[in-house]
Amino acid sequence: MQFSILLTLLSIFTLAPASPLQTRQTIDPPARYYLQTKVVNGGHLDFGTNKTNLWLYSYHTGAGLGDAALSTNKSWAWEGYLNGSQQLMTYAGNQAGPWPLYIGYGPYQQWNLVGISIAGISNLASGFFFNSSGLQFNESTGGWLACDWWHGVPQLFQINGYTYGRIPNSCSKVQLRPVAV
Ligand SMILES: *[C@@H]1O[C@H](CO)[C@@H](O)[C@H](O)[C@H]1NC(C)=O
Ligand SMILES: *[C@@H]1O[C@H](CO)[C@@H](O)[C@H](O)[C@H]1NC(C)=O
Ligand SMILES: *[C@@H]1O[C@H](CO)[C@@H](O)[C@H](O)[C@H]1NC(C)=O
Ligand SMILES: *[C@@H]1O[C@H](CO)[C@@H](O)[C@H](O)[C@H]1NC(C)=O
Ligand SMILES: *[C@@H]1O[C@H](CO)[C@@H](O)[C@H](O)[C@H]1NC(C)=O
Repeated sequence: MQFSILLTLLSIFTLAPASPLQTRQTIDPPARYYLQTKVVNGGHLDFGTNKTNLWLYSYHTGAGLGDAALSTNKSWAWEGYLNGSQQLMTYAGNQAGPWPLYIGYGPYQQWNLVGISIAGISNLASGFFFNSSGLQFNESTGGWLACDWWHGVPQLFQINGYTYGRIPNSCSKVQLRPVAV
């Protein structure tokens, strides 16, 4: 009798974490932070330049326009802050207003461009939050990629829901960790 009560209590206790009522776990980043990569995959994706401990900045592509790029040099890092679910970026002496990080979504793409621009942004400039794995975009998407790409420096991409095959060898899956300014 006592044994079966104990078993019942034990099973309630051990089943509790498997509750279907899962809520999104978010954390508050520092008020101002740099975003730094941490490689999360090893193996065949880990070719090309080393994608660990790189700092996120906007690679200039035009007035108020930039692609999300990554540097080993911390003095290149742009400052980030959250405005609701917008990931805004800025830098010392910025007079032009906040630069939203946005996802250049394309249908049927395995990964998407990431921009840091004032002008011409897509509608996917919200939906950002932090959890213990760093910056997240939306709930259904696959995280971040760092690749040696068209600007000749490591660039940031966002992994889409579609999987067609291998990701290029110069790409590493990364997390984007906030580091207080
Ligand atoms: C990549 O860089 C990190 C940080 O600088 C270093 O700890 C790590 O050993 C490097 N990995 C390789 C494979 O060189
Ligand atoms: C880092 O960038 C700053 C600013 O561009 C530059 O002055 C410095 O020499 C760079 N450091 C390294 C190690 O490249
Ligand atoms: C923050 O978001 C609100 C609502 O979208 C907007 O009105 C405001 O301008 C934003 N603040 C900054 C600093 O971008
Ligand atoms: C989240 O992703 C879904 C599916 O791609 C999309 O419909 C939705 O607009 C996204 N939400 C935000 C805030 O980007
Ligand atoms: C953080 O959020 C992403 C996207 O929703 C999710 O895939 C990941 O498991 C979460 N990480 C943790 C530690 O909860």
